[in-house]
Amino acid sequence: METERQIDAVRAQVRAWQSQGLKVGFVPTMGNLHEGHLRLVRHARRVSDRVVVSIFVNPTQFAPGEDFESYPRTMERDSELLREELADLLFNPTVAEVYPRGLDHLATVHVPGLSEILCGAYRPGHFTGVATVVCKLFNMVVPDCAVFGRKDFQQFQVIRRMVTDLNMPVEIIGSPTAREYDGLAMSSRNAYLEPAQRELAPALYRCLRRLAEALAAGERDFGMLESDGWRELATAGMLPDYVSIRRRADLSEPVPDLPANDLVVLAAVHLGRARLIDNIEVADIVTEGS
Ligand code: PAJ
Repeated sequence: METERQIDAVRAQVRAWQSQGLKVGFVPTMGNLHEGHLRLVRHARRVSDRVVVSIFVNPTQFAPGEDFESYPRTMERDSELLREELADLLFNPTVAEVYPRGLDHLATVHVPGLSEILCGAYRPGHFTGVATVVCKLFNMVVPDCAVFGRKDFQQFQVIRRMVTDLNMPVEIIGSPTAREYDGLAMSSRNAYLEPAQRELAPALYRCLRRLAEALAAGERDFGMLESDGWRELATAGMLPDYVSIRRRADLSEPVPDLPANDLVVLAAVHLGRARLIDNIEVADIVTEGS
């Protein structure tokens, strides 16, 4: 596996592969890799001939006071894991390589609507930072396809919308959420949990599952389910930002006669120093049961 820090070198390599008729898959990450990231790499390997992984902790998607400085940076271990997964190229640019003019008066990509709801309401500017850096990374790497985790469901939808609206020639693939043995969605931020908080954390998954199962069974009082879920999480010791049932196609507010398959249940909670997000697509529960 090659490691490159410069845009030109990555672009040249990708272009060389593509000129041999090879399909190039891309997995953007912020590093501190865990099994969830590695599954995206495997997914990319299944659907493409060469896999590029980027590790870049993107300053523009963190608000002042968030964890940009303290975000875990574990390059050596990450690089070893990617080598074992047979990734072909690791792109690890510096902030100066990605933002050579600095961070002021940047041209940005804003996906209106989708970026302001749910997590966007609690993290203003976050999804513009994400869309902008993903657009930039696509322009640097020029992949044929890119794999994103459905764990960050809203992010996945923001990227899909950006690619559709701006006619970007990249196929976007969503990969299922990787979970710990007790249901907790894997995340670099789980490391912020104290042992007692780690014990509590799977309550988030249990709650989303209960709501998704109720929807699959035909319950359609969304408001009642959301406030039940909220109470359940608060009782478990978490501080919810939101518990929300949405249409999975565009995260808009659902109407009661929608089929269960079209719904997704999402939540974000604070637990100690960590902010945890998770979601369940009801269609996955329906498939499991059949
Ligand atoms: P990061 O949090 O490092 O996540 C990189 C990719 O891994 C994202 O597509 C995310 O959805 C996926 N991922 C994380 N945990 C997962 C899990 N448990 N199961 C499945 N997939 C999982 O998301 C970002 O970085 C950044 O916002 C980025 C897109 C790289 C832009 O900076």
